[in-house]
Parts: sequence; C-alpha cells; structure tokens
Amino acid sequence: MRILLFTGKGGVGKSTLAAASACASAAAGHRTLVLSTDAAHSLADALDVAPSAEPSQVAENLWLQHVDAQERFERSWRDIQGYLLSVLDVAGVDPVAAEELTVIPGAEEVLALLEVRAQARSGEWDVLVVDCAPTAETLRLLALPEALGWYMSRVLPVERRVVKALKPVLTRAAGVPMPEDSVFDAIERLHAELDDVRTVLTGPETSVRLVLTPESVVLAEARRAYTFLTLFGYTVDAAVVNRVFPDGGADAWRASWVESQRRVLADAADSFAGLDLRTSVYRDSEPVGREQLLDLARAVYDGSDPLAAGDDRTGLRVRSVPGARILSFPLPLAVQDDVRLARKGDELVVSVASYRRLLTLPSGLARHRVAGARVHDGELQVRFTEPDAGTTPQEST
Ligand SMILES: Nc1ncnc2c1ncn2[C@@H]1O[C@H](COP(=O)(O)OP(=O)(O)OP(=O)(O)O)[C@@H](O)[C@H]1O
Ligand SMILES: [Mg+2]
Repeated sequence: MRILLFTGKGGVGKSTLAAASACASAAAGHRTLVLSTDAAHSLADALDVAPSAEPSQVAENLWLQHVDAQERFERSWRDIQGYLLSVLDVAGVDPVAAEELTVIPGAEEVLALLEVRAQARSGEWDVLVVDCAPTAETLRLLALPEALGWYMSRVLPVERRVVKALKPVLTRAAGVPMPEDSVFDAIERLHAELDDVRTVLTGPETSVRLVLTPESVVLAEARRAYTFLTLFGYTVDAAVVNRVFPDGGADAWRASWVESQRRVLADAADSFAGLDLRTSVYRDSEPVGREQLLDLARAVYDGSDPLAAGDDRTGLRVRSVPGARILSFPLPLAVQDDVRLARKGDELVVSVASYRRLLTLPSGLARHRVAGARVHDGELQVRFTEPDAGTTPQEST
C-alpha cells in the first residue's frame, strides 16, 4: 500500500499532478484510487470524467472519488449533533439556527481525512493518491488529528469533554439534558479514528509531495510547508516545480520570465536539497484527459517510478555523546530564532512560528534535563543531561 498526498499553494497544479501520478500508477498495473476533498471537482475535470462521491472506475485500474465531506460529516457527527440540538432546544434556540450552530467549521475537512483513512484501511487499493487542499488548510488539517487527540486524551477526562465544549451554551441554559452514552461513544470513536488517521498518514507508506510554480512567493510557501509538515512527522519525499517556461524562441517578455524562473529554480534546488526535485514545463494547453496526464507524468517522473519513496527521514532519534544524550529530529529550513522549545514533564513542546507540536519524550529521556538546543543540518537537536548533573530542571530554552 502506498499513499501519496499532493499539496501546494492554490492553483499551482496539485490536482493535475495528483491525477497524472494516479494515471501513471494505474498504467503500471496498480489498483489506484485518486481522491479529492475539493468541492470544485477539478480532479474529475482534469481526468475529463464525471465526479462521484463514492469510488468510481474511470479507467483500467483507476478509480476516482470526490469525497462528499458534508455527507461524511453528517454520518459521523449525527449522535453528537443530536445531543447538541437537544441542548440548544432547551436553550430556546430556533431549530434552523441550531442546525447551523452545530456545524463546526473545519470539521468537514477532518471528516475528509477520515475518508482517506477508511479507504487506506479498506484493503481495496494498492495506491491512494490524495489531491489535498491548498497548503495552509492542509497544514491546519494535518496538524489536527494529533492536536485534537492529545486534547481529548489528556486535557479533558471523558465526562467533562462534552460539557466543557458546551460551556458557553450551558451557562446560559437551565435544565440542560445530560449527554447519553451514545454521545460519549461517538466521541470515543471519533478520537480513535483521528488517532488512526495520524498513524496512516505518518506511516512509512505515506509521502507528501509539494507542488509549486517557479515564483518566489510560491517557493516561500512551499519551504514553510516543508518545515511544518516535517515538524508534524509527515514524510515529504518530493517537490515538483510545475509550469516552468520552456527555454528558447523568446521575445523580451518571455526571456525575462525564463531568467527569473531560473533563479527561483536554483533557490528551490537549494531549499529542497534532500528531496527528489522534479520539474514540469508549462504546456501549450491545459493537460486534460488520461492521455495528456500520462504524458505529463512521463515527463515529470522521467523514467523513475512515480511511487518510489524517498529516504525515510522522519522520526525522533536519540544518540549518546559523552556526558549527554542528543535527541534530534528533522526540521528542514527552520531558523534557530524561529524555534521555541518548552519542557512539560515528559513532553517537549516545539513551536515554529504559529505551529506547535507536542512530542512525548522517549522514556530514557523523560527524567533528564534539557541542557541546550540548536538547529543544525536541517535538524533540531536537543541536548539532555543526567538529572543529577546540576541545577533544577530547565523549563525552556
Ligand atoms: N504543466 C502545466 N501546463 C499547462 N497548464 C497546466 C499545467 N499544470 C496545470 N495546468 C493548468 O493549470 C490550472 C490549475 O491546475 P490545477 O487545477 O491542477 O491546480 P490546483 O493546484 O489543483 O488548483 P486549486 O488550488 O484550485 O485546487 C488548470 O487549468 C490546469 O489544467
Ligand atoms: Mg485542485
């Protein structure tokens, strides 16, 4: 089983490259499902077929699915929502307004992730290609299962979870019904599924591929995405620079673009040095339909296997040096000044810009104290010393 996720800034060619890679995978004989969470159906448009909410076969070995997040949302959320509605009813909220209130923003996307998990676990597919939302949403989304899971399992004991979430409503309402077991069950189930989403998406079979165009603002976003995805434990194995102007036959306008793209391509090569960096020319028309997509995939992957995984560079590593242990994990392109570290018991909180990751320390380190940290060689390296080696445990660096 192989899972490829395509993400990048809006409009750079995510759907096109996801579709092209899926076509190549299917042509190589793998049962391939290409799945999109985009309501705009552009994946179906690229393949020149009709969209479908359930996997539907569009070619030999190739299936397409546009996840209907709204429908998934309603299935998984029904019990919880039912309870919320009864609370809002007691509070005298108009039923139509109550429906609106119980649709949680962002929850639909989470449920799209649940569909990715369900398909990955179905045993139906050799390859799953996911056409993700633009970077910002994707990052928020991919950070969610961990954040939510952590929150659910540690911050709130079971009974208080729902009540706490409802606090603003509960304080205004008298005689609020107590949640039934089915509500707790639904929450537990959601929690377990979210946990599994993370297991699937950070597993060795899954890679994220960054799509970008050769423009400096787009590259800047792709660089940030690379850092954050790695921070959250996702393996990025390739970057595809799409819509590169072909050289030659140029007027001044074109020559100037070719030159500026060349500079950005050189920056991209520096930025993504450890990744498989691929380019795709700006074609003279939109690549639509299976033939054109296959042709695009051939040009992009240039004889190498589209499904090949890059080196596995994720995960925490601990090594011993004289007098200390070094915990390291990849944090490409991060600058020391942007990284904040805090220690809370057996957890290390790593923040880069507005993203925060909670890492549970390996048991061998939990009692050690943080002696220092640095960003070096694309890694965050945290130095731990024996607990008795000096002063009080350090809270942050
Ligand atoms: N290499 C290329 N040459 C020419 N046209 C391209 C190329 N790649 C993509 N396109 C065209 O660019 C447009 C945007 O591509 P696509 O829909 O794949 O982008 P996207 O990143 O998925 O966009 P969105 O963020 O809206 O989902 C489409 O019309 C597509 O056909
Ligand atoms: Mg798209």
